[in-house]
Amino acid sequence: MPACLSVCLSVCLSDLYFRFNDVAYRWIALDNWTYTTTFSASTELRYFQLVFEGVDTVASISLNGVVVGKTDNMFRRYVMKKVSLLSPVVYASERSRDHSSYRVPPDCPPPVQKGECHVNFIRKVSRFNSWELTSSFQLIVFIVLCVCVCVCSNQVKLWWPSGHGEQHSYHLSVRGTLLEGPLCINPKVYFRTVELVQEPIAGSPGLSFYFRVNKKPIFLKGSNWIPAHALQDLVSPSEGPVWNLLQSSVDANMNALRVWGGGVYEQDLFYSLCDEMGIMIWQDFMFACAMYPTDPDFIETVREEVGQQVRRLKSHPSVIVWSGNNENEAALATDWFGIPVAQQPRYHRDYVTLYVDNIRAVVQKEDGSRPFLVSSPTNGAESQQEGWVAHDPYDVHYGDTHYYSYSHACWDWTALPRTRFASEYGFQSWPSFSTLQKVSVSEDWSYGSNFSSHRQHHQTGNQQMLQQAGLHYRLPDSADPLKRYKDTLYITQVMQAQCVKVQTEFYRRSQSEVIEGKGHTMGALYWQLNDIWQGPSWSSIEFGGKWKMLHYFAKDFFSPVLPVGFEDQGSLVVYAVSDLSHDLHLRTWSSLDPVCTVASGLVLVEGGSAEVIHKQPITALLAGCGGGSCTRLTCLLTFHLEDVNSQQGPINHLFLGSPKNAQRMLRPNITAEVQQDETGRYTVALKSSAVAAFVWLDVGDVPGRFSTNGFLMTTRNRTVTFNPWGPTSTQQLTRALTVTSLRDVY
Ligand SMILES: *[C@@H]1O[C@H](CO)[C@@H](O)[C@H](O)[C@H]1NC(C)=O
Ligand SMILES: *[C@@H]1O[C@H](CO)[C@@H](O)[C@H](O)[C@H]1NC(C)=O
Ligand SMILES: *[C@@H]1O[C@H](CO)[C@@H](O)[C@H](O)[C@H]1NC(C)=O
Ligand SMILES: *[C@@H]1O[C@H](CO)[C@@H](O)[C@H](O)[C@H]1NC(C)=O
Repeated sequence: MPACLSVCLSVCLSDLYFRFNDVAYRWIALDNWTYTTTFSASTELRYFQLVFEGVDTVASISLNGVVVGKTDNMFRRYVMKKVSLLSPVVYASERSRDHSSYRVPPDCPPPVQKGECHVNFIRKVSRFNSWELTSSFQLIVFIVLCVCVCVCSNQVKLWWPSGHGEQHSYHLSVRGTLLEGPLCINPKVYFRTVELVQEPIAGSPGLSFYFRVNKKPIFLKGSNWIPAHALQDLVSPSEGPVWNLLQSSVDANMNALRVWGGGVYEQDLFYSLCDEMGIMIWQDFMFACAMYPTDPDFIETVREEVGQQVRRLKSHPSVIVWSGNNENEAALATDWFGIPVAQQPRYHRDYVTLYVDNIRAVVQKEDGSRPFLVSSPTNGAESQQEGWVAHDPYDVHYGDTHYYSYSHACWDWTALPRTRFASEYGFQSWPSFSTLQKVSVSEDWSYGSNFSSHRQHHQTGNQQMLQQAGLHYRLPDSADPLKRYKDTLYITQVMQAQCVKVQTEFYRRSQSEVIEGKGHTMGALYWQLNDIWQGPSWSSIEFGGKWKMLHYFAKDFFSPVLPVGFEDQGSLVVYAVSDLSHDLHLRTWSSLDPVCTVASGLVLVEGGSAEVIHKQPITALLAGCGGGSCTRLTCLLTFHLEDVNSQQGPINHLFLGSPKNAQRMLRPNITAEVQQDETGRYTVALKSSAVAAFVWLDVGDVPGRFSTNGFLMTTRNRTVTFNPWGPTSTQQLTRALTVTSLRDVY
């Protein structure tokens, strides 16, 4: 959509995201639109190109009344242009009707998603490079690069993923003369290698699946990225929201994001920021959860799209892998669309035609420096062996997996897939009240309201959240309806944070071992990082940038050094996980709060590994503590790692029973005081009369974030800092601050 149109929409109409407006404004997509502008160009100019970025989508372009082409062209000069946009919904529907020889499912998304039909028939055009290289120009860059690499390659400093080293860059200075005139640019250049290692593992059927960057195996920690706004140009021109999301990723100790194939190819700035911050990008091509047509027009458009995107993005060291589509191998293999058996070979052929014969071929021609995967999840090399569609793309012995289970108790790690690489998993939660308040009115503020149902785009999602929360926590029961609503939002965030923590810790501790042929897990990318609007979703960051409890938890569970504790057949087991490059000698200190403390012996933990550091039957642990005064329901376990000098990594904790059954859980009566110290820093001094779980500080819509949040408070005093993202004051923060802990909601 052209910038002026979306600006107009947001000015002329009330907020697109307000209440039910997403449906109320559907007519916009059903109509045709014309965008005109006037510009002048020097008469001296002999030659120029008009560059269109992200015209959405089907458009004819005229210059001074003459049709000069379609959206994806560059033109010669003149003084006016006029872009006529067809309704994408109508266009997609017509294309689907024209394709009458056979059906290309799905026709429409499930009603709960309130989406449009036949999206697989339209390529919502992505972005074009505003900096298209001419061949002479490429030649100059090539020559200069060769010289540079020959001169210093022995000491070239490498680009490393965040947490593994610097993101070293060089400035390339290019001066030259092209036909069109003098040229002078100074692009940034980075050096790194990347390999996707799929090779036999001793003692295991199947193949490994991990990334090696600069020859070093790297565990990918992070999440999945979706578009940051439905109207892309409202977030593109400014660095703000995108920068904030990416900075929030590295601040939470992430080193990787997967740009999901159901969204958009992101703008150049996104990848430049990832380069600078050391965020590795798993880049899907934009095909998701559907079959696609393979008629010559469609293939031609796709080939052009893929070629352009690869040329645009391949200079970014952050991009470490291309992936053909999201879940389409799985959709075929497990027959999501009920295709009759006799017709399946046709869809299989179409799949290979599109992703292998065309997309893969174009990518490999343009970029021989990166691995290419056909799908996610996939069995990788094994899928190829099986004709590109494996009989079970979720096989944990190969490739990556996506895993979701909402009804099963999420604390039970024994049901989790011990996969080679977890590229999607997650749980939903609601955003905070202050975020929802911006798009709702008081009649919407209950869990059962029409608004609450309307914003939920996942079938029975609202019930699933409460059902999962109810397994371990008491559900809010305040007689005050508004408090009950706010408490319910809180409890969904508690549930989500704890569920994703358990699962991520399981994947991280599975990196160095193979059990019954499974394991050697080398990636944990939960679904999903960010939100496209204010509604319930799997995200860890709300629309607008506010961190949910999950994101604060991610900062800890992705910590470079992490103690992971869990129960295995009646025993407490503690692992030390380390992403460091060097070895550590670590012991764990475990406290049954507040009664006793146990220390293990020192264990050697190699860099890039997970080792068992302590194991003890829980009955023995309880009996040996405080004369047996601890039970599973009265004590909880906290633990941390120490080397000979100091604490390494965060303090972690383990509930030995469900908090909903906890005995002697007192109302903690937490008081909080906001202060500003001499350096101008805002702190919140907390005092609590009892151990408090999931202590949550919220300052409404004052933008910023806390140093920690959602934490377990086992000491009487604790000080947390608040980093505002704009001007604020002690008074404003004091007025806005609320503190909630688990015991407050019932
Ligand atoms: C949109 O444009 C198409 C093609 O020019 C035309 O057939 C259709 O009637 C137009 N629709 C509307 C709502 O104007
Ligand atoms: C909820 O939506 C239904 C169906 O649109 C409507 O009949 C009902 O009046 C709405 N309820 C409220 C409280 O707005
Ligand atoms: C909570 O703590 C504050 C300050 O420590 C105290 O003044 C207040 O009486 C306590 N309230 C309850 C209900 O115990
Ligand atoms: C907690 O802080 C108060 C002052 O804010 C101080 O008087 C008290 O000694 C502290 N208690 C502990 C256990 O540190």
